Amino acid sequence: MQRPAKLPEPDADARAASAALTARIRANIAAAGGWISFARYMELALYEPGLGYYSGGAAKFGAAGDFVTAPEISALFGRTLARQIGQVFAASRPQVLEFGAGSGALAATLLTELEELGTPCERYAIVELSGALRARQQATLAQAVPHLAARVEWLDTMPDTIDGCVLANEVLDAMPAHWVTWRDSALLERGVAAGTTGSGSGLVVAERPAQGALREAMSGLAADHKLTDAYTSEINLAASAWIATLAPRMRHAMALLVDYGFPAHTYYHAQRREGTLRAHYRHHALDDPFYLPGLCDLTTHVDFSAMALAAEQAGLEVDGYTTQARFLINCGITELLGHSDPQDMRRHGLLTQQANTLLSPAEMGELFKVLAVSRGMRHDWRGFSDGNRVHTL
Ligand SMILES: C[S@@+](CC[C@H](N)C(=O)[O-])C[C@H]1O[C@@H](n2cnc3c(N)ncnc32)[C@H](O)[C@@H]1O
Repeated sequence: MQRPAKLPEPDADARAASAALTARIRANIAAAGGWISFARYMELALYEPGLGYYSGGAAKFGAAGDFVTAPEISALFGRTLARQIGQVFAASRPQVLEFGAGSGALAATLLTELEELGTPCERYAIVELSGALRARQQATLAQAVPHLAARVEWLDTMPDTIDGCVLANEVLDAMPAHWVTWRDSALLERGVAAGTTGSGSGLVVAERPAQGALREAMSGLAADHKLTDAYTSEINLAASAWIATLAPRMRHAMALLVDYGFPAHTYYHAQRREGTLRAHYRHHALDDPFYLPGLCDLTTHVDFSAMALAAEQAGLEVDGYTTQARFLINCGITELLGHSDPQDMRRHGLLTQQANTLLSPAEMGELFKVLAVSRGMRHDWRGFSDGNRVHTL
């Protein structure tokens, strides 16, 4: 597996936390008889209480962290998104339910902008798995929007009934995925065992014949996309199951799922034979998922066809699917930019640069997609008025 020659060194505390998590992963492997699925490994590496990447103390987002998300790049993202959410509020109730709210930046921007647009959000609920992130979100909101912070509440699980707008920005890619290989006529699940590797984590890949729902999914994909010889990729059963859990709770609600990914025919294209699984460490993308467990983010791209299918099977309507660039342009990001004063060269230059990162095909514009699914709502959403690619799913 490839890794850049020189990666920033973690400090002694971070290294010790990673060693403690690795020991716990090895104990899980031993207790399970010598092998755990990659999905279980990813769950432990990201969400093990106190030690996992998202549940531990790593900086994660921003310049000091490992990656940057759209709400961290620019408030333009949330301000533009607010224009779509206002339309959802008018058709339902003025409520937002955000999953995995990161630093709280998106919530702060949305609460402010919705107020300014005259479509105030009355209740903003956040489902956050990480106690550390919940505390960070509370601090962000208390600092950025003290007068609106009382409208925000944190939930440990999905509410039973959901009205209004559901948001999940870069959440599906962080759900534990299965790692799989099609080789000759064998359908193999890649798991994790104890052993010696270059990464020094004492963890190695070990393959087994895939079973149950995973095997079924692999057979279907092999038939649809002619996957045979030495083709490795991922299948995110947890993300499909998450949509199946969300769907029956949605009454008059529209969910916007934003993430990097493709339709199945691109995801499982013959040329993408190494899959999309990556580790992110201090703004380096690595293809070794065992490097410093707990200090690296692990992600896979999203198969949006599978997400749309899960939504449909659970009784939702699939209203729209388009690129992030097209969605933001449809929602009016260009007009928003037009309000910035070009005489204020520093601010205008910065906003233009941020918009470029969100929109450029070479950056987030094309790779990131927006999928809208709903129940009991209208379907002519502003964000998909032009360039709706739902037929490609
Ligand atoms: C890459 S971060 C994105 C954070 C934020 N939305 C942003 O854009 O900056 C992924 C987030 O998804 C959260 N997450 C993953 N699975 C989740 C689930 N089932 N429910 C709620 N949050 C989840 C993680 O805890 C993490 O906070």
